Amino acid sequence: MTTNVADRMTGVDFEKMNSQELLAWGLKEFGNKIALASSFGAEDVVLIDMIVKIRKDARIFSLDTGRLPQATYDVMHEIQHKYGIAIEVMFPDTEKTQAMVRGKGMNSFYESIENRKECCNIRKVEPLKKLLATCEAWITGLRREQNVTRAAVAKAEVDKGFGGILKLNPLADWTSKQTWDYIKEHGVPYNKLHDRNYPSIGCEPCTRAIKAGEDERAGRWWWENPDSKECGLHVKRN
Ligand code: ADX
Ligand code: SF4
Repeated sequence: MTTNVADRMTGVDFEKMNSQELLAWGLKEFGNKIALASSFGAEDVVLIDMIVKIRKDARIFSLDTGRLPQATYDVMHEIQHKYGIAIEVMFPDTEKTQAMVRGKGMNSFYESIENRKECCNIRKVEPLKKLLATCEAWITGLRREQNVTRAAVAKAEVDKGFGGILKLNPLADWTSKQTWDYIKEHGVPYNKLHDRNYPSIGCEPCTRAIKAGEDERAGRWWWENPDSKECGLHVKRN
């Protein structure tokens, strides 16, 4: 860290800021040392629309695991062209991916939590670490009501898992309805899987549609316990 995040947070009442105010603060404070993490889900396209209206050349990145649904590539392409922005797409390390697939096959993630975490680690967490090494802060689309693991998400937190940089979650207190109202009101392109009962979208083999009454993330790693359903991007380390 080149700056002291705690100093920068002193006296700022993040919880009172609305999403745009928080984004404007982060972009002004950190310039090209802050980046939005986008999976192109509903929350992230809202944030892209807000960010581009504040600063057109703000950094936006995406972790392409190599296993994303075509609908995700479609919305990524559409957004890039609609807003005329560059997206920093990060790919997994070729050697590590090849070694994993050679040793364990293409679908190792279904066989154990350990294998699933290994895959998420190679395809998402390590590329994220590489990208965040260029940042002093990052922005995500986490919302508190998404899952039990996210109920305590703050609008601004020190991310000890990634070197103590600042993590801004401008939609932390938003509901799903607010997210969709924004998308409709502003004509924001969105992932068409959302129209087919996929409220949360990750890799194609690890995501499925949810049934009526199921929680928003029930379709992610559906074979695992809800308490363990994080892939390493958003893990609290106290
Ligand atoms: S995940 O950790 O389970 O995959 P989720 O899909 O709920 O996360 O997304 C939460 C936030 O994590 C997104 O709003 C986005 O900021 C970030 N994120 C998740 N997946 C990616 C990805 N593939 N590329 C970039 N950011 C991502
Ligand atoms: Fe691998 Fe599934 Fe994790 Fe994607 S979500 S990186 S395919 S285990």
